[in-house]
Amino acid sequence: MTTSEKESHPRIKSYILRQGRATVGQQNAIDNVWDDYCLDPSKIYDYAQIFGRDAPLIMEIGFGNGSSLAEMARNNPDLNYLGIEVHRPGVARLLMLLEEQGIKNVRIYHHDAIQILETKILDHFLAGVHLFFPDPWQKRRHHKRRIVRPSFVQILNKKLKKGGYFHAATDWEHYAKDMVSTLSSPNSNNGLVNTSVDGVYCPRPEYRPLTKFENRGLRLGHGVWDLIFKKI
Ligand SMILES: C[S@@+](CC[C@H](N)C(=O)[O-])C[C@H]1O[C@@H](n2cnc3c(N)ncnc32)[C@H](O)[C@@H]1O
Repeated sequence: MTTSEKESHPRIKSYILRQGRATVGQQNAIDNVWDDYCLDPSKIYDYAQIFGRDAPLIMEIGFGNGSSLAEMARNNPDLNYLGIEVHRPGVARLLMLLEEQGIKNVRIYHHDAIQILETKILDHFLAGVHLFFPDPWQKRRHHKRRIVRPSFVQILNKKLKKGGYFHAATDWEHYAKDMVSTLSSPNSNNGLVNTSVDGVYCPRPEYRPLTKFENRGLRLGHGVWDLIFKKI
């Protein structure tokens, strides 16, 4: 599929909503602490006010069960984190972790990340965007559903501040190559540069914990590719 064909489907969803029932603990978290952490996707927020301080804001797209986001937020108390996930039981699991561990520097949108990026984030605002183990959409006819596509890179370019970064990791080599090529293409990108010293991938930085999907991939013998692009 050519770039222009991909761009004729900019609204194709990058996810399928998985069924899954909340555990008792997750349901309690939904009932009791949802409003403490979850933001309303129909509202516009002043994030400094929401977090009660002005700190660099890192967005994580598709945090899954939230364990790696909770760990990063705990280890980096000077940063604010905005987690976005469409899978409700995953949101509930993260709520439990935040509450149990007293983590204050995370807020959540239970919503499509592209829509939040486009409509709820000021231009040149984000210090970082994380995308760890996005759905790989392995079959060729499904590649158009991959979240990293030219229209996504254009939004990233707008929303990252100067010096901000985009960090993706995947255990699917074809997607890793596809992301590097889309991120480097002058058609979609005029402000992001690859930070890799050998020009392609980066070693996993210390701040990124292993994620649930990554561990599953590692058990299956998969490789892992991290790529980090910086906004200049
Ligand atoms: C393969 S899982 C990886 C989860 C987690 N990052 C990990 O590594 O364990 C991808 C996640 O991204 C979420 N997702 C995909 N597209 C999304 C979108 N447009 N907005 C929000 N979440 C999305 C899915 O619901 C799923 O939970």
